[in-house]
Amino acid sequence: MDKTERMEEFYRDLASTKKYATSLDIHLREIEIETISSYLEDGKKILDMGCGNGYSTIRYARDFDSDFTGMDFTNEMVECARKMERGELKGRIEFKQGDICNIPFPDESFDIVTTSRVVIALPHEDWEVQKKAIREMHRVLRKGGEYLMIESSEQGLQRLNDIREMFGLYRIPTNPKWSDLKFDEEKLVPYLEDLFDIIEVKRFGMYYFIGRVIHPLLVAPEEPKYDNPINRVACEIARKIPNFRDIGALVFYRLKKK
Ligand SMILES: C[S@@+](CC[C@H](N)C(=O)[O-])C[C@H]1O[C@@H](n2cnc3c(N)ncnc32)[C@H](O)[C@@H]1O
Repeated sequence: MDKTERMEEFYRDLASTKKYATSLDIHLREIEIETISSYLEDGKKILDMGCGNGYSTIRYARDFDSDFTGMDFTNEMVECARKMERGELKGRIEFKQGDICNIPFPDESFDIVTTSRVVIALPHEDWEVQKKAIREMHRVLRKGGEYLMIESSEQGLQRLNDIREMFGLYRIPTNPKWSDLKFDEEKLVPYLEDLFDIIEVKRFGMYYFIGRVIHPLLVAPEEPKYDNPINRVACEIARKIPNFRDIGALVFYRLKKK
């Protein structure tokens, strides 16, 4: 089985209409959705690439009168997205199958493109393939349009691990599963700067400090659980004070196409 087939099998098994099927860390997922939503607008053409079961795409379309395309490589994810309960929408959504490395749309088709933990999840675990995916997102974006990118940083994880280690907690492995190549931001940033103006970078260190340092210390020797109420409180605090020492894997880049 090659890497792409393994990836498809992995996401085929995960595919369901459960709202958090693609992310166990339910409160961090809320932070992702709220962060992306805060930069969306009415009257735009928006691509949510690697949309999984469409939960985030639907959340965006509830709030914005825009035309959304949710696209994912895994057919089963796309089928779940089509079946997902939508509720009342302001916008319109079409779900399609497609590959971020070869997006089936002409140049400059969208005003806004977005990914949430997709470029890091490509099966090849290869920076060259990640660059290709970023270049494709750039290609389908109109000039001056925005790429809202929520992905993961190797350096952010290491800063979190340095703090965890001070308190006797183990270092969280960099790539816990086969499809997770966090960005080396020293390589990522110069690459992005060739294609985009970097308008804003956001980190979510407060959520990580409470959820990945205080929480495990409080519940030890039990294992922390994503649905522990302390993570909900961490999310509430992080809404008002998002960052703490730039720690945590998740990082948001707001990018404007040059
Ligand atoms: C970690 S999940 C994130 C899903 C969604 N963005 C979310 O926030 O829940 C990664 C998704 O990327 C999709 N994916 C993997 N390789 C892809 C590719 N080459 N093109 C498009 N989607 C891909 C997977 O099928 C999976 O649904």
